[in-house]
Amino acid sequence: MQRISFPALVTSPVSDRPRRGIAGDCGGTSPVTFCYIWMKARRARSEAAVRHRLPPEVAERLRTLRECPVEPTEKGFGSLATAGGVSAASLAAARPSIRAAGFTYPLLTLRETALTNNIAAMAAYCARAGVALAPHGKTAMSPELAALQLTHGAWGITVATIGQLQAYRAFGFPRLLLANELVDEAGIAWLAAELAADPGFEAYCYIDSLDGVAILDRVLGQHPAARRLKVLVEIGHADGRTGCRSDAGALAVAEAASTTGTLIVAGVAGYEGSIRGDSQTQTLTRVAAFCRRLRALAGTLAEADPGTAERIVTAGGSAYFDVVTRELTAPGAAAVQVILRSGAYLTYDHGFYGTISPAGRGEADAPVLRPALELWAQVLSRPEPGLALLGAGRRDVGFDQGLPVPLRVLPRGGGNGPATAGWKLTELNDQHAYLRLDPEAALAPGDLVGLGISHPCTTLDKWRTLVLLNDDDLVVDMVHAFF
Ligand SMILES: Cc1ncc(COP(=O)(O)O)c(C=O)c1O
Repeated sequence: MQRISFPALVTSPVSDRPRRGIAGDCGGTSPVTFCYIWMKARRARSEAAVRHRLPPEVAERLRTLRECPVEPTEKGFGSLATAGGVSAASLAAARPSIRAAGFTYPLLTLRETALTNNIAAMAAYCARAGVALAPHGKTAMSPELAALQLTHGAWGITVATIGQLQAYRAFGFPRLLLANELVDEAGIAWLAAELAADPGFEAYCYIDSLDGVAILDRVLGQHPAARRLKVLVEIGHADGRTGCRSDAGALAVAEAASTTGTLIVAGVAGYEGSIRGDSQTQTLTRVAAFCRRLRALAGTLAEADPGTAERIVTAGGSAYFDVVTRELTAPGAAAVQVILRSGAYLTYDHGFYGTISPAGRGEADAPVLRPALELWAQVLSRPEPGLALLGAGRRDVGFDQGLPVPLRVLPRGGGNGPATAGWKLTELNDQHAYLRLDPEAALAPGDLVGLGISHPCTTLDKWRTLVLLNDDDLVVDMVHAFF
């Protein structure tokens, strides 16, 4: 199993030793820490498939972030931060057990082995299928996790808003796909300046209307970027979200964009995750039909503008990426680059994605993903025999796709806790969870209950620091989330 080592991700895929210049990048790192990082990297490299080098500017900024003391205002870190300070680097060096580390609860953790499994499994799936992956960065908003995805060959990082794009750009990410329309004039002007300042920066955004094209063209005209902004024509579906509803409309939008001097049409985009049917079979049939439509339009656009160098077709969240991949790479498809944008696969879950994803649906050849997120909550009270109140609630965990599920107990005094089979969370308040359990269960105030979650996006957005645990419940690292 490949292990995580964020700064060490910059090591060369073809050499055991950090490249010249990379060691220099570690100038701010102590020799002891650097040795530790390097040893971790060696182990990681020998266990991983090909690793890609992180752009030096991203590596540099992550190194700085890694040394930053966590503020006492971060959930879980108040006692640690006031007791002398803690950073990702110091936590990784100390490797305390979750119970001994001095966290306050609730606390959201990432299981390191599950996380690295998911990143590697999805990368391998895409490589086998001949598709690229621009993981959706809105899921975790974590530059460290996005960096890990890049080192596993991700083509770029997807974002949903210009603000998210700016957050990733602040860490130097060189290729960002804004999977949304951009009509924010301040955002467009900023993007133009960023494109002008760095010829190595590549950005994409969506268009789905003549008005949208006109806004981009006007603002880019006022703020010349010295090169054209790459746009993807978004295709929508009835009752769906953004995106052209008709093929004729999509072609008109593409034509309008290509006649500007500020935009270049790089392909088509769609999102199948919002498609619904009366049954799973009907949903999958509709998803497949939507993808065929995308594919046909990509071909039509390519024929209409044979001079365009870049031809992209992008779709694919974490629910139906198998169908997307199959349809967009089917024999006879136009020669286009297929880019998936899956995000939730990164942490997967014990609920929604666990059942709807390709592996959850029992698809052969689906990447085997493992739930990585665990919310740790303390038992506050056992006011009735069959009820325990936990100190975590809607402020800490998503509940839009199902309530958390009890996984494990870490008793206050150490040792193994009771099995959680048959236990159920039935309700969440803002800061409390109602756990129904066997009245005889040996669960007492102060014990920790580990909860699996459903829907990573609405859990992760409640946290700005994520603690990484190994399989022995030791804290092995920490990553940041910029929500
Ligand atoms: C446009 C778009 N692309 C990709 C994704 C990623 O999907 P998932 O969260 O299922 O991985 C989303 C998620 O909302 C999305 O809105």
